[in-house]
Amino acid sequence: MNKKIYFDNAATTKTDEKVLMEMNRVALENYGNASSLHSMGQQALEEMEKARETIGKLLGAKAKEIYFTSGGSESDNFALKGIMNSKNKLITTKIEHPAVLRTAEYLKEKGKNVLFNSVDEKGIIKLDELEKNLDKTDLVSVMHANNEIGSIQPLKEIAELKEKKDFLFHSDMVQTAGKIKINLNKMNLDLASFSGHKFYGPKGTGILYIREGVDLIPLIHGGGQERKKRSGTENIPGIAGIAKALELAEKSREEEMNKQEKMRDKLIKSLSEINKSKLNGHEKLRLANNVNFSFFGVEGESLITLLDFEGIQVSTGSACSSKNLKISHVLEAIGLSHVWAHGSLRISLGKNNSVKEVDFAIKKIPEIVEGLRKISPVKF
Ligand SMILES: Cc1ncc(COP(=O)(O)O)c(C=O)c1O
Repeated sequence: MNKKIYFDNAATTKTDEKVLMEMNRVALENYGNASSLHSMGQQALEEMEKARETIGKLLGAKAKEIYFTSGGSESDNFALKGIMNSKNKLITTKIEHPAVLRTAEYLKEKGKNVLFNSVDEKGIIKLDELEKNLDKTDLVSVMHANNEIGSIQPLKEIAELKEKKDFLFHSDMVQTAGKIKINLNKMNLDLASFSGHKFYGPKGTGILYIREGVDLIPLIHGGGQERKKRSGTENIPGIAGIAKALELAEKSREEEMNKQEKMRDKLIKSLSEINKSKLNGHEKLRLANNVNFSFFGVEGESLITLLDFEGIQVSTGSACSSKNLKISHVLEAIGLSHVWAHGSLRISLGKNNSVKEVDFAIKKIPEIVEGLRKISPVKF
């Protein structure tokens, strides 16, 4: 294959051309500042409110519950720091994205009571542990699906716990928007984070859903935009772009997820046939586009590099830092030993992938794994 195969859609996606066209239109036609009182400003404001309306409808929220941010990281920081400013106890999980994990650690350093809930060996939150620790909890933050191993968390069951104990519920939905049907109101969430570039929208665009009546302090102070919650001149082309991207992703969601799920299962079936290989994450409660495998005795970074030579772009499942050889916190949390965790790989499919590309990867991966095992110092 001489074309590059992009299998890293959990890291980011290629911006959809229709999204770019919409952004282009807005940037050229409605470039006013949405805070300006003249008609150019008001036109920009209209574009933004139209986008807010569209997003609200698609996510099962009121338009006024949608706040625009610069991405998933900002939304997670905004939710956690904004709420915890006046609260004391936070429970999150051990497998959150660093945007939540590092923020939770920061809050802990500042003296807050922070607990990191365990997950089982498939990467699903241990609900009994959560329930046991819920007493006096102000905020629970659990991601909808994990970015490394794709495990989908039981948000419905967590929300049901609110009937017994009162707490605010935040979810990082960065990996699920456009992949799983989301109805924020029905899901009984209070806060939720989204990022445009994960669903073929522009990078540097995000959303924080804040349920009406939930009070939190701003992360960014200034001119008082976004109803005094998030200052800064609004990125109107980006806002129009994220709305368009979500609209397109929702329109094709079912068909797309069916297609990707078939390709995912073909990859899983085939990679499982490799000697001493292991699927990480849950077999069923898993994102339709996620494949995460470990190959015993193989060095993950070498696997990625050799696949790149073949034109296949994937990510290491372990995201280990070459400096300290620390394994991924997610693989550690599901109980993988170092030797298994180091030999892991994540394939994340997207709408531009084809069965032909999957077949090519299925042919190449076993060859490369075998070659690396021949030179591996690990005996098995
Ligand atoms: C689950 C999850 N949360 C948050 C983020 C951060 O989003 P952003 O890149 O928009 O800051 C990512 C991105 O990788 C993610 O996968």
